[in-house]
Amino acid sequence: MNAEWDALWVNARLATMAPGAGTPYGAIEAGAIAVAGERIAWVGTMDSLPEAARRAPRRHDAGGAWITPGLVDCHTHLVYAGSRAEEFEQRLEGVSYEEIARRGGGILSTVEATRAASEDDLAALALSRLHALLAEGVTTVEIKSGYGLDVETELRQLRAARRVGRSAPVDVVATFLGAHVVPPEYRGRTDAYVDFLCAESLPAAAEEGLADAVDAFCERIAFSPAQTERIFETAAGLGLPVKLHAEQLSDQGGAALAARFRALSADHLEYVSDASVEAMAGAGTVAVLLPGAFYFLRETRVPPVERFRAHGVPIAISTDSNPGSSPVGSLLLMLSMACTFFRMTPEEALAGVTRNAAAALGREAQIGTLEAGKRADFVLWDIDHPAELAYRVGFNPCREVIRGGRSRSGGGDVR
Ligand code: NIG
Ligand code: FE
Repeated sequence: MNAEWDALWVNARLATMAPGAGTPYGAIEAGAIAVAGERIAWVGTMDSLPEAARRAPRRHDAGGAWITPGLVDCHTHLVYAGSRAEEFEQRLEGVSYEEIARRGGGILSTVEATRAASEDDLAALALSRLHALLAEGVTTVEIKSGYGLDVETELRQLRAARRVGRSAPVDVVATFLGAHVVPPEYRGRTDAYVDFLCAESLPAAAEEGLADAVDAFCERIAFSPAQTERIFETAAGLGLPVKLHAEQLSDQGGAALAARFRALSADHLEYVSDASVEAMAGAGTVAVLLPGAFYFLRETRVPPVERFRAHGVPIAISTDSNPGSSPVGSLLLMLSMACTFFRMTPEEALAGVTRNAAAALGREAQIGTLEAGKRADFVLWDIDHPAELAYRVGFNPCREVIRGGRSRSGGGDVR
């Protein structure tokens, strides 16, 4: 057995979230976890500690704390400028989200503000929004473009996202969302915008290594399934995995289309059909549910959690942090909402921000559970039971975050 283990945490209660562990939360009571370099070397019970673990030079007593995998926020739009507080006021007076978009506001008003912002500004703004997530134990965050739409601003958003990953103690997965909405310069010419996106902006993002995946918004106020398909084909040609904002406001068959392209995830899904759920199951496409947007848009249709369960579709939960439909800075609050609004169990909700969120990013081999070989990203919590993470509202019981085997402090500054 390897003698060069670096660190050991003892007296822990581990919510490993490992599939097939046979206990709720994959729990190991009286557990310990050993780290070698940036990886987990061993996970088990205190009474089965291997010799190499005993010899680890850094030994930490968790004092009975619960340890979970580092949290993964798998769907955010953190890089943008401006605010949509006035739209919030309009919506409270009865104007719908769709109506605001049709009047040229909504996503387009954020596009205007984002186009006017520098890369420095965008990175600083994203970082300021990220701090709250980091404080709750987020160790991996996905960030989408989609508020630039022209080549220059889309790339600037993605560069800002990459910079956040270099500056702050968090892994950033960057997603190209050029097909978020049709920009004003292509108004009434959606197909021409899709041509442009497939010929110019998406290849440019891919060439600079700025996109880990490609997303689109398939909706009446955005892109049709046929247009989305063309974008997916271009992504496939560039070797990039896809995901989709699907069935948020209406059933467009987007989730089934995503499944046909073996998408990593289909996200929102309040209006998804049974046939699409089956297609997702067949393709291993994760259902990413976004209770913040459900709440903020005062949606009443609940995504079909029971169907996802019945067909074995993995369910992830995310903040969807964005200025228009989910101005949210708490992933723990999303756990509570997933349980209260969507009737998920606290265990499902926690799997939704660990194991299944990792799968929604195609990172399930690297992160998302406490298992030997995975990155040593984990969180120590001051709680008596893992269900507390979903049960309490507005409390943050995060005691310490370990990232790549090392204790993490602060949120980092923009470099
Ligand atoms: O995930 N649905 C489209 N995109 C975002 C909303 C973006 C916005 O309103 O600025 C979402 O809800
Ligand atoms: Fe979104």
